[in-house]
Amino acid sequence: MPAAGHRTTLQEYVTSEWQDKGQNDGLAAVIMAIADGSCRVQQQVRQAALADVLGTTGEINVQGEIVERLDKASSDIFVETLSQSGHVAAIGCEEIEKPVIVEGDVADGYIVLMDPLDGSSNIDVAVSIGSIFGIWLKRPGETVNDDSLLRPGNQQVAATYVVYGSSTVLVLATKNKVSGFTLDPESGAFALTHPNIKIPAECAYYSTNEGNNKVLDKPTQKAITLLRDKYSQRYVGSLVADFHRNLLKGGIFAYPADQNRKDGRLRLMYEANPLGFVAEQAGGAASTGYERIMDIVPQQLHQRTPLILGNKDVVEETVSVIKAG
Ligand code: AHG
Ligand code: MN
Ligand code: MN
Repeated sequence: MPAAGHRTTLQEYVTSEWQDKGQNDGLAAVIMAIADGSCRVQQQVRQAALADVLGTTGEINVQGEIVERLDKASSDIFVETLSQSGHVAAIGCEEIEKPVIVEGDVADGYIVLMDPLDGSSNIDVAVSIGSIFGIWLKRPGETVNDDSLLRPGNQQVAATYVVYGSSTVLVLATKNKVSGFTLDPESGAFALTHPNIKIPAECAYYSTNEGNNKVLDKPTQKAITLLRDKYSQRYVGSLVADFHRNLLKGGIFAYPADQNRKDGRLRLMYEANPLGFVAEQAGGAASTGYERIMDIVPQQLHQRTPLILGNKDVVEETVSVIKAG
């Protein structure tokens, strides 16, 4: 029984909580690899210009976007910690064109899809950024290959994200349970601060890039107008920060398709699927505007999708306006 005033640590949570429930300890090792990696990333985030980690590498990634030095650094850190966990068979990463097949076949291997640094445009201006992870269990006896990563979001066993904001918060979702942990900079450990997160019934905010309004189709413009008439606008420009606020306070995030982005801007496998998983376990929803995000059968590792994410009833209302045409 923990001492009075003791906060459960993430390590205690994933070893006690799941062992009681019979989960194997492989998933605990994967979660701790993500936590360890995020401690190293947040140190670089906090040092930023002092550690000379700002600015770009000069490279263009598979997304056609300029690679920030912190994109690359965080990608390297998480590939290292996940590969060394002993329970990850393959990694898909926004910053790496091809899947990373981890050497040696791990029996209970997990497949991790990640956005190692989300909100890159905010790195140099000290605005909240984050990291996002979707976790699947490889099929029994499967020798993983590139196609092993193309799994629908509804087969995820867990999803987690980290927000490097005014505090560093790791949110972990498994079936029907979402919990938040805050990094204690003194001890370097994540402590349970948000047990059993459920998205509030009341929607308070809507988050969308209003600058795109003129290139939306008419039904989507109408849907955004309805949100604008009802809710306060909050838009950080880092998906994971916008989502975290909406998860705790009630809100909806929308990055629809537009004339310039027919498939939307955000990536299915390591942005929409993991956050869609978290949203649904917390009582929310995630849609493309036409179908449930987690039912999409992926065709490519880096494919994009429109994303409407947050309070279930507001997502459903928004989808019905878009579908009505
Ligand atoms: P990333 O930095 O991983 O490329 O993600 C950036 C994404 C997402 O975090 C955010 O919601 C969106 O880009 C913002 O796009 P706009 O600048 O077009 O609004
Ligand atoms: Mn991102
Ligand atoms: Mn990114």
